[in-house]
Amino acid sequence: MRIFSGIQPTGEIHIGNYLGAIKQWIEFQEGNDCIYCIVDLHALTSDYDPETMRDSIMNKAIVYLAAGIDPEKSTIFVQSEVKEHTELCWYLNTLTPIGELERMTQYKEKSKRKKKRSNAGLLNYPILMAADILLYDTEVVPVGEDQKQHIELARDIAKRFNKRFGETFKVPKAQLPKKGARIMSLKNPKNKMSKSGKKGNAVSLFDDPKTIEEKIKSAVTDTDNKISYDPKDKPGISNLLVIYSEFKDQTIEESEKELKGESYKVFKEKLTEVLIESLDPFRKKRRELEKRREVYVEEILSQGAKKAKTLASSNIARVKRKMGLV
Ligand code: AMP
Ligand code: TRP
Repeated sequence: MRIFSGIQPTGEIHIGNYLGAIKQWIEFQEGNDCIYCIVDLHALTSDYDPETMRDSIMNKAIVYLAAGIDPEKSTIFVQSEVKEHTELCWYLNTLTPIGELERMTQYKEKSKRKKKRSNAGLLNYPILMAADILLYDTEVVPVGEDQKQHIELARDIAKRFNKRFGETFKVPKAQLPKKGARIMSLKNPKNKMSKSGKKGNAVSLFDDPKTIEEKIKSAVTDTDNKISYDPKDKPGISNLLVIYSEFKDQTIEESEKELKGESYKVFKEKLTEVLIESLDPFRKKRRELEKRREVYVEEILSQGAKKAKTLASSNIARVKRKMGLV
């Protein structure tokens, strides 16, 4: 199967990104044709610093590799290095009603936050995302729950194109993880864990043991000191249970059984221990890769872009033919 997914270069990767997206990416590497993109064009829709952008892109490539994406098995590349993404985005723009874009939850949230500084890129963001996916005849898109609506839109756009111009695009499917599709903030478990959230809301994939300990210690729980999964009435503890179970590779029921009768304090200590142990290899691998940044990582991105470009340009040629441009 062709698998495609991407993450923006800006912001620190946290355990929500890992459990929602990257963990699935790694699993898909066995026996599938995977393409993982650093979506820098999407990042331009938010406030960013041009001075540090290229550095963030390189850092994200290192994060992919440190987290377990194997360049021998998967293609890793930077979106802006393959111009066909913006070209297809334009074609798909002409097939997308504005109302559908205005209904996107993420657009509504982001434009409300930005108010006057909202931009057309923010509105068209999901069309560029659809272009990313459709350009590679993608069948499966592994993402967290917050991206589900965008994939639905990509499906609608693909179907609309096929209906208007004849069978062209595969209709992709979103693949969400069973448990970690929506990891919540440690500070306010009613909100999702996020790169741009309040300080301490997220554990970074590369936090050192002391920072992990502090963040888990200050994670919001509740007052009844009972460890059970009940996201509605006990959102804090339930979120910690999901994280604990995912990193221990066991079901929530198994965790509940294991922790029965324990205090929150002991649970937090155990969770801290599991996180420190699970994240340690990522930190080590990243340190190693930092040293090989110039040659090794640049080379992986350059090979990745070459491969992506070959696939993308033949697909664009087909699209142009179908649309009557050539
Ligand atoms: P972003 O942080 O928005 O760049 O998201 C990158 C990937 O991580 C996407 O596939 C998201 O769906 C996923 N993701 C982001 N935040 C979370 C979260 N709190 N829980 C689970 N998945 C998430
Ligand atoms: N919008 C996604 C996010 O913020 C990132 C993204 C861009 C993406 N293009 C994509 C994800 C294509 C999957 C497939 O998380």
